[in-house]
Amino acid sequence: MSEPIQPLAAQPCTLVIFGGSGDLAKRKLVPAVYNLLLDGVLPPNYAILATGRKPLSDTEFREIAREGVIKYSRQEIKDSVWANFEQRLFYVAGAIDDPKAYSDIRTRLEKIEADLKLPANRIFYLAIPPTSIAGAVEGLRKAGLVQPPAGNAPFSRLIVEKPIGNDLESARQINAAVARVFDESQIFRIDHYLGKETVQNLLVLRFANSIFEPIWNHKYIDHVQITVSEAEGVGTRATYYEEAGALRDMVQNHILQLMCLVAMEPPYSLDPDVVRNVRMDVLRCLRPIAGKDVEKYTVRAQYSVGKAHGVDVPGYRREPGIKPDSTTETYVALKLFVENWRWSGVPFYLRTGKALTKRASEIAVFFKPIPQILFNANPDAPLEANVLIMKIQPEEGLTLRVVSKVPGSKAKTHPVEMNFRYGEAFGAPSPEAYERLLLDVMAGDASLFMRRDAVEASWAWITAILDGWKTHGSKWLPEYQAGSWGPVEANRLIESDGRCWRTV
Ligand code: BG6
Repeated sequence: MSEPIQPLAAQPCTLVIFGGSGDLAKRKLVPAVYNLLLDGVLPPNYAILATGRKPLSDTEFREIAREGVIKYSRQEIKDSVWANFEQRLFYVAGAIDDPKAYSDIRTRLEKIEADLKLPANRIFYLAIPPTSIAGAVEGLRKAGLVQPPAGNAPFSRLIVEKPIGNDLESARQINAAVARVFDESQIFRIDHYLGKETVQNLLVLRFANSIFEPIWNHKYIDHVQITVSEAEGVGTRATYYEEAGALRDMVQNHILQLMCLVAMEPPYSLDPDVVRNVRMDVLRCLRPIAGKDVEKYTVRAQYSVGKAHGVDVPGYRREPGIKPDSTTETYVALKLFVENWRWSGVPFYLRTGKALTKRASEIAVFFKPIPQILFNANPDAPLEANVLIMKIQPEEGLTLRVVSKVPGSKAKTHPVEMNFRYGEAFGAPSPEAYERLLLDVMAGDASLFMRRDAVEASWAWITAILDGWKTHGSKWLPEYQAGSWGPVEANRLIESDGRCWRTV
């Protein structure tokens, strides 16, 4: 196996989690740090200080953290490892809007650092609603908790969770508030899809193999389909989701980033900003979908009552916490174009939704059909085109569909699949996205994070669609049955071009 080009080393530090008594800390963040420890990649000295409104003692927080690890960790809990790990978990109660909370955090941090002999390297993780971000960074500044970046001096870094805003204007305001306190080089905006192994492999696939790049353009590619399908409904996140909807929740961030990785030009190095520049270029080239075009290029819908995996699912409007006349979309499909030389005329079809048939995310690159001669001579039964499918989750791998001869005397053909599966090839299950991302922040590597310009460019593109929906969108919101593959309108979006969605 070839080794990476000198990865940056993770530095000893304290991870301060705002929203520390919440779901993300329990399900993702603490288990991620624990797994880094088990994998032997965590710096030898570290601590986690969680903070939240709930009054919890260190012991109570450790108990919650342990439950989280037992339930959600990729690797099983080992009592001997846990005993040491939990000694490095701390909790301090405080409200984000209370200035005293920040002086309490500071006092607690200084004590932890003195006791554990930790340098004052601090990572502030904001797992809080977007409306609280400005107040939190200001609180940190006023408490003297933020040091400007300076050579080998202890670092202050900030991790911001999505959603960064609700539209372009609010995203700009949040970014401006954060920039008043932190330098861009200290800010790590998370899009957890970029931390997924299978997503990182897109770059390796494209740029570590010689066979793909020559055909990765409009001359050979007919179209691209990106599917991020979820089986779960809205669950317990009604308040957030009602205001967000599928376009903001999934497309603005995760799916546009997948697009960027598929469509970007080769970066000249793996330097974080070089890679982020080429991702950004894709966003710059997206043809806007605005005004009346929303009807032609977008489909939104909401799930109605149905059954998923044998379980009854109420319609979205009947879910707890959802307005009975809600017009929030739980499904969206889009057709879009990247207006540059490479992708001229190649449609990208995107679709995502909740309460669909199954959880499955993939990117499928459809190559152009072969000429209608030889094996493809019969216009009534054209050969299926080659498709390269990058499977993101839950299956992780790569499939190439090619046409093969059926054994026998006749020249009969049939599509077959060549498969690569991560699990089979590498044995171990892939690390969770948050593991990789937290480790990168500890090392100061921003490659897999969203830069300010990219967040604002994708919000600008999304906001035009949202505005178009408001002014030109149909008042009628199509429905799809929970447990189905989505609304018929989404089929029409692609079928009117003579193509169809892949069966995932
Ligand atoms: C989050 C969205 O960002 O991503 C959720 O807010 C969604 O609505 C989740 O369910 C999907 O993440 P994953 O990693 O489970 O595909």
